Amino acid sequence: MSFGKSLCILTLLVGTLFAVEVFSLPKVTPELKSKAQEYYNDECKACHRWERKFAAPPMKENVAQYADNPEEMVKYLMHPTPRHPETWPPMEITPLTEEQAKMMTAWLLYILSNPEDPGRPK
Ligand code: HEC
Repeated sequence: MSFGKSLCILTLLVGTLFAVEVFSLPKVTPELKSKAQEYYNDECKACHRWERKFAAPPMKENVAQYADNPEEMVKYLMHPTPRHPETWPPMEITPLTEEQAKMMTAWLLYILSNPEDPGRPK
């Protein structure tokens, strides 16, 4: 193979490696739990209850929708767009930063699969 050709293939390979950003959520540590819980109490609890409708749909159902697609939940929290215009008003909140959205998604999914956690929202 010519040098030019190898260089070209190498450039392509490196380009592909850096172009693919793998989505991942932070690990649910005790620190993350307490930060997320505090954020929830300040920014989410006013409208959401865990298991029942309040000023917004129950958080348990909200999160369950995204159990297989946490990346979409992160996107939603960073940029809430109307989801159920027939039933609910749009969610009007200060959009979360990527870091906040990932923290909340990681924690809420953790709570969904660990409903006995003492930090579970009411
Ligand atoms: C001002 C009230 C209000 C606050 C505060 C609020 N929400 Fe919501 N939330 C809503 C409403 C209303 C909906 C339904 C919106 C829709 O269906 O378009 C909703 C829907 C959602 C959904 C489901 C979206 C879907 O695809 O069905 C998630 C997840 C969610 N909220 C998470 C959060 C989180 C996390 C917080 C705190 C950072 C938060 N919400 C704070 C009112 C609120």
